[in-house]
Amino acid sequence: MDAIVAENLTKRFGELVAVDHVSFKVKQGEIFGFLGPNGAGKTTTISMLITLRKPDEGEAWVAGLSVAKKPAEIRRRIGVVFQDPSVDRELTGWENLWIHGVIYGVPKNSLRRRIRSLMEFVDLWEKKDTPVKHYSGGMVRRLEIARALIHEPEILFLDEPTLGLDPQTRAKIWDYIEDIRRREGTTIFLTTHYMDEAERLCDRVAIIDHGRIVALDTPENLIRRLGGDVVYLHSSSDRLEELASMLSETGLASDYKIIDGKLMLSVRDASKAMPEIFEAARKLGVKISEISYKRPSLGDVFLHYTGRSLRDSEGSWKETARIVVRRRR
Ligand SMILES: Nc1ncnc2c1ncn2[C@@H]1O[C@H](COP(=O)(O)OP(=O)(O)OP(=O)(O)O)[C@@H](O)[C@H]1O
Ligand SMILES: [Mg+2]
Repeated sequence: MDAIVAENLTKRFGELVAVDHVSFKVKQGEIFGFLGPNGAGKTTTISMLITLRKPDEGEAWVAGLSVAKKPAEIRRRIGVVFQDPSVDRELTGWENLWIHGVIYGVPKNSLRRRIRSLMEFVDLWEKKDTPVKHYSGGMVRRLEIARALIHEPEILFLDEPTLGLDPQTRAKIWDYIEDIRRREGTTIFLTTHYMDEAERLCDRVAIIDHGRIVALDTPENLIRRLGGDVVYLHSSSDRLEELASMLSETGLASDYKIIDGKLMLSVRDASKAMPEIFEAARKLGVKISEISYKRPSLGDVFLHYTGRSLRDSEGSWKETARIVVRRRR
């Protein structure tokens, strides 16, 4: 059985189609990622799956239950870590977990054991009696992960689990996420706009942009489908275009782009292609000032499907202003 099924899931805010006929399936025990830039529709999709928002169109099933018909039952069987922190800052870490467990009807004796084991798991047991307002951002995130697991959910939803955290803390949280699946067999649905996170953690990734899924597969397959390596060649020569078309005519490069005197060539195997590139450049008298290559990343996959990089799409002022405004609402 699939843990999550979405069929044509759609959400509109006025004119804006925030989630636009999205369909996908998440297998039981899978770590499934929703990767996309700010405003892509990740949180809105989650909010429909966790039954906080009703879809305008389409249907979804979580743990085999219809979100339209069985919201209460779904909520008992899932754990959620929201994008914005939602712990009580005046209470201690332990108290936050206790209240959550009581709300979920976990029997008190097993709740005590569960809290201890989860706080040890996320390395917070020593801080159990400290008010959350004295926790760091990473500690709050870890507490929220522990809290989401109190009632042993089958499916865990994590909305941007490592947003704004430093690299070490992010890596630590990745370890916890992998451990949760290993220890409890939990299905994990996470959203992120970090490519490294999706690549490292996810069995499969859906790339979402402007409310639509533009690609869905394992990170390896998405990358492999781009075809081989990318070679970057710098030169001040005005014959770069000629060089590029020569290399693609011979079939060496499957695709190329020239941006600011930098030639990007898609080749099957960069180490084999290098000598031929040098040879062709020599023939045309193109002086290479720098050459490098890399295996494509999920970032290149995003670029391929959307025509812009994940970073560009994040950086705009308009986008940033929009987020600030939305967070204040
Ligand atoms: N309550 C709302 N009212 C109006 N528009 C909304 C509302 N919530 C979200 N939106 C808009 O819907 C679109 C998708 O938003 P959503 O929060 O789902 O994106 P996201 O992928 O989670 O982005 P982020 O990375 O910023 O969290 C955005 O354009 C956003 O401005
Ligand atoms: Mg979001």
